[in-house]
Amino acid sequence: MSRQILHALKQSTTFVSGTALSRACGITRAAVWKRIKALRKKGFIIEAASSRGYRLVSAPDLSEEEIRAGLQGRLWKRVVLEGSVDSTNTCASSMIAAQMPASGTVIVADRQTGGRGRLGRRWISPGGVNVYMSMILRPEIEPRHAPFLTMLAAVAAASAVSRVSGLDVQLKWPNDLMVRGKKVGGILTEVRSEPDRITSAIIGIGINVNMAAGDFPDEISETATSLFIAGGRHHSRSRIISEVLNDVEYTYREFLQKGRGYLLQQWRHRNCTLGRKVKVVTGNETVKGLAMDIDGDGMLIVRMAGGSTKKISAGDVTFLR
Ligand code: BTN
Repeated sequence: MSRQILHALKQSTTFVSGTALSRACGITRAAVWKRIKALRKKGFIIEAASSRGYRLVSAPDLSEEEIRAGLQGRLWKRVVLEGSVDSTNTCASSMIAAQMPASGTVIVADRQTGGRGRLGRRWISPGGVNVYMSMILRPEIEPRHAPFLTMLAAVAAASAVSRVSGLDVQLKWPNDLMVRGKKVGGILTEVRSEPDRITSAIIGIGINVNMAAGDFPDEISETATSLFIAGGRHHSRSRIISEVLNDVEYTYREFLQKGRGYLLQQWRHRNCTLGRKVKVVTGNETVKGLAMDIDGDGMLIVRMAGGSTKKISAGDVTFLR
C-alpha cells in the first residue's frame, strides 16, 4: 500500500490531496495518514499542507519501496532490506536452511559486519554508502555450470552500473567489476546441489557506490574505487539495486533460452582481461602469460612463454606491463 501512495506522489510534481490518495489506493484518509507517517519513519520527506494534501520532497537513498518501484519484471518476488547483518550471503543461506524461501528472494543490507569476498577474503562493507545484495535463485542447470551464474551476475551488474553511472564498467576474469583499472565491485556465488542439479543458488553482489577515497583501508586503497570516486557523483543505492535486478532478470532469461554461448559473448564484449599479459595466482601455482580467451566452461586460457597453453578455473588475475 505504501508503494501505491509513493507511486501516486511520484507521479505529481505538486501536492496530491488526501482524498485523491485514498481513492487511488482504496483506503480511508486516516489509513493514508498512517502510511505517510510510516514512510516518513523510513526517511521519506513528505510535506503535508492541510488544504492541499501531500508532496514528496525527497526519498532516502536506500529503501525497499524505492527498490520495488524500480523493478520491471516478475522474477523478483520478495525484497528484504536489513540494517546491519554479518553478510547478506550468510543471511540468505540461513533463510534457505530454515524455510527454503521462494526463488526470486533478494536480501539487501545497509551494512555488513562480516562481508565475505572470494577466496576467503573479507569484503569491506561500511554502512550508508555501498550496495550489498544477495539473490536466491533455483536455476535448472547442472552443478558444473554454476560458474555461469557468476558470469551472468557480472555481465548484468556491469551493464546496469554503466547505464546508471555513465562510467565504462569492464569485467576482469572471473568476476571483478572494474572502472579505469580499479575494482568497483565483485560477485560471490554459493550453490547447494544434488549430483545432477542445483537446488539453490545465492548470488551475492557488492558494489562500491558512494564511498570516498579516504574510506578504503590502506591494503586496497590503490586497487579499489567507487562510482563516486570515479565519476564525481553520488548515486541512489535503491536505483542501482533495482537496475541490477532488472538486468539480472533479463540476462537470466536470455541465458536459460539461448545457453552459455550467449553469456560468453556478453562477457567477452565487456572484458578487460583478454589480450593482456597477466599473472594468475591459483591455489597451487602462479601462471604468467597472455590471456587468450575463455573456453566454453568459462575457464581462462593463458599462453605461456614457451607457447604452451594452460586452462585455469579459478584464480586471481594481475595485469603485467
Ligand atoms: C569478490 O570480489 O571477492 C566478491 C565480493 C562479493 C561481496 C558481496 S557483498 C554482498 C554479498 N555478501 C557477502 O558477504 N559477499 C557478497
